[in-house]
Amino acid sequence: MLNFEGRVAIVTGGAQGIGRATVMALAERGASIGLTNIRCAKLDSTIKELEDMGRKVLKFCVDVTDVEAVQEMVEQTVATWGKIDILVNNAGITKDNLVMRMKTDEWEAVLKTNLDGAFYCIRAVLPTMVRQRYGRIINIASVVAQAGNVGQANYIASKAGIIGLTKAVAAEVARRNITVNAIAPGFINTPMTEGLPPEVKEKMLSMIPMGRMGTDSEVAQGVLFLASPETSYITGHVLNINGGMYMA
Ligand code: NAI
Repeated sequence: MLNFEGRVAIVTGGAQGIGRATVMALAERGASIGLTNIRCAKLDSTIKELEDMGRKVLKFCVDVTDVEAVQEMVEQTVATWGKIDILVNNAGITKDNLVMRMKTDEWEAVLKTNLDGAFYCIRAVLPTMVRQRYGRIINIASVVAQAGNVGQANYIASKAGIIGLTKAVAAEVARRNITVNAIAPGFINTPMTEGLPPEVKEKMLSMIPMGRMGTDSEVAQGVLFLASPETSYITGHVLNINGGMYMA
């Protein structure tokens, strides 16, 4: 089992779904966790579980689109634990609409959270990671950034941006022993996908060779892999976790 004893991780959007599964998977293997979410009250049950497990945890009620709050979160983490080993940019939203009907605020909100938010977090942790000459950054993209989809231009642009950002930062910091990778999940059973109409779910399922949705913990396993000290020569990579939905 991968060991994260003594490691410090920040996971954005950690209150539910893939973020929560990632937090639990890292914590079960020993990591201390800085946990952020825009909706703060939703963090409490996760924090209790982490504390019952004997893990150290910092709670941040941070909206990743708030540059100053992101900066403070990073400063407080470093002040408390002296370092940041792992950043998981997981916070994300959808506001689906056809391009012709898409409102400017639907476009901007999704780009702001999914892409700007990841950039703010990366920029904030890099000075610490460069100084310590160690870091693992994992950005959650999406299969639709690779395959396209109807009604998700804002989301797809943000996730394709995440993949580009991943590669750009990976090249910039490669000599500092910092790896930067993305994960492209397929159709995963989380609160984000729960509310989709049955006919949309049926259509998505028909496109998945494995014939089922993925679970949040199956995505978390990919995060653990890329976050581990052992995967030190993988950088700028996009790891597909999609049941065969898209094979690149
Ligand atoms: P979710 O909606 O269940 O959880 C997202 C979490 O992010 C929530 O706790 C939410 O409150 C938080 N969040 C949203 N905006 C935030 C902000 N501005 N600042 C801080 N926290 C914020 O979503 P899910 O499904 O767990 O998705 C996690 C990531 O995986 C997202 O980036 C999503 O785009 C991506 N993804 C999900 C897929 C799926 O099928 N569920 C497929 C591909 C990618």
